[in-house]
Amino acid sequence: MTDTTATTTGASRVHAVTAATDEAMRVLGRDLAALSRPGDLLILSGPLGAGKTTFTQGLGQGLGVRGSVTSPTFIISRIHPSLTGGPALVHVDAYRLGGPDEIDDIDLDMTLPESVTVVEWGEGVAEGLSEDRLEIRIERHPDDTRTVHLRPVGARWADIDLPGTAAGNG
Ligand SMILES: Nc1ncnc2c1ncn2[C@@H]1O[C@H](COP(=O)(O)OP(=O)(O)OP(=O)(O)O)[C@@H](O)[C@H]1O
Ligand SMILES: [Mg+2]
Repeated sequence: MTDTTATTTGASRVHAVTAATDEAMRVLGRDLAALSRPGDLLILSGPLGAGKTTFTQGLGQGLGVRGSVTSPTFIISRIHPSLTGGPALVHVDAYRLGGPDEIDDIDLDMTLPESVTVVEWGEGVAEGLSEDRLEIRIERHPDDTRTVHLRPVGARWADIDLPGTAAGNG
């Protein structure tokens, strides 16, 4: 259900993962949960309805956190504590935030070190939170499938085998 390729452009490796269904998107989230550690920052981008929350649901399942991951209208940030002694999931929806200054106001740096922090609509807004981050851009195709582009940034991700590396060209 997922097929993968990895390309190398200069210093940055970008992995492309095909997710044909919403369940494939959750599987990708679970796979990335298995690689995640406290302090990780994942920045999600992609158009309305791309699958950002669906991906985050898989991440929450993989981390074994409490509560269901949703997109509530008036909530910008929600903390899902771990049920298994692992890191909490901090799920942020930056859609209504004006920019980097406003994301500073919600004090994500307080929870970041012990949590896995995911920011929907985070591109251009959340990069300043950490030098190490995984930038995840979801592309939606006319046939309703998605291509998920994973771009690791910083030393934290330098030696990590992202989904696709083993099976693909990496
Ligand atoms: N890979 C996929 N293939 C097909 N449908 C998908 C896929 N991923 C998600 N969907 C479906 O797309 C719809 C929108 O998903 P979701 O709410 O996760 O998007 P989003 O990017 O969080 O949207 P928003 O921009 O409103 O935050 C849902 O019905 C979901 O089931
Ligand atoms: Mg969403």
